[in-house]
Amino acid sequence: MSAILPPNALLDVPRTPAGLLSNAEKDRLIERAFLGLYRWYTARSQETRNWNADLSFDWKSLRHDLPKEIMTTLTGFFAVEQYAPDYTSELVNMVRRSHGRSHFQLRWGSEEEKHADSWENAVLFSRQRSPKWLAEYKERLRSQQWHLPFPDAIHNLVYTVFQERATQLNYLNLMKLATGKSDKVQNAVDPVLAKVAQTIAVDEAAHYNFFLECTRLYLYYYPQRTLEAVRNVIGQFSMPASHLVPDWDEFATTVYKAGIYGPRDFNRDVMQVAFRNLGIESRKKLEEGIKAGREVPNFEGDGMVPTIIWDSFDYGSVEGDVKRLHVKIQDYEKGVGFDAVDPFEFVENPEAPPHQASAGTASDE
Ligand SMILES: [Fe+2]
Ligand SMILES: [Fe+2]
Repeated sequence: MSAILPPNALLDVPRTPAGLLSNAEKDRLIERAFLGLYRWYTARSQETRNWNADLSFDWKSLRHDLPKEIMTTLTGFFAVEQYAPDYTSELVNMVRRSHGRSHFQLRWGSEEEKHADSWENAVLFSRQRSPKWLAEYKERLRSQQWHLPFPDAIHNLVYTVFQERATQLNYLNLMKLATGKSDKVQNAVDPVLAKVAQTIAVDEAAHYNFFLECTRLYLYYYPQRTLEAVRNVIGQFSMPASHLVPDWDEFATTVYKAGIYGPRDFNRDVMQVAFRNLGIESRKKLEEGIKAGREVPNFEGDGMVPTIIWDSFDYGSVEGDVKRLHVKIQDYEKGVGFDAVDPFEFVENPEAPPHQASAGTASDE
């Protein structure tokens, strides 16, 4: 965390009371976990999701008579994903001092770039938009630049958790239409489109999991700040680039009517899912916990002690998930041989009060 502060702010960090981890130590632990997670992620991505936007799909077989609603949806998906270079450069720049996160963002950007190219292919091969129309649309989109929605790394990290889950949900719901599992749009079945939507949705799930793991690490070592970031992010959540895409309102109305994405989907299938994975019971509980839990000066006046913030989320389950992440990374690193040269260990946060062993929240891969 201190790595994202300007150097002079580091001097103002209060001395750490005996027995607790200093912020520098917490940052070192988080950074080491990010690095291990990024290496694990890359190996898995190359092994299981190494697809190509041109060659992995039978574009020549895409239908030429897809309904209007599907065309509006595909065009909107393309518009959002084609800002991949902006997303990547802004995020890389923000986390450039973190090896794990900055290298991950490059890998992530290379995956998002494939999504943009795939949706562009879908629009083009539908034969309902000419290459000239697409070129002009792209030029119009690229005349505007996307910027980070929040000024600091922790808020942007939390934002990506919700954004990746929302994106995954959009694609899964399009897949339902394309496979005939939803009839909210008539005549929408197309096997090529279904495969594209499913392939990209799997990537988005992997992105969600990566950012979720990172957020849990912050939540475990910096609960107050992380819960505040969650509260702030959900208070003003919107899909990325929604303010840059010229025909956004038509797109939003279309995906809502088509059962692909709307406010109810966000509440039920994005916010509640992410909350469950972060050990947060509800938005109301989160608000109450933040209000009640403040860091206060300790008795000696030379440090801060956290108050009841630990009661406002299921930190036992978060700790269980953080430990499981460590085991996953340890297994990976053992396979490579890193354990002999740079062993990776879980270090408990001594601020957390003793608790009952917990089964943990939902796990991922
Ligand atoms: Fe994407
Ligand atoms: Fe993504």
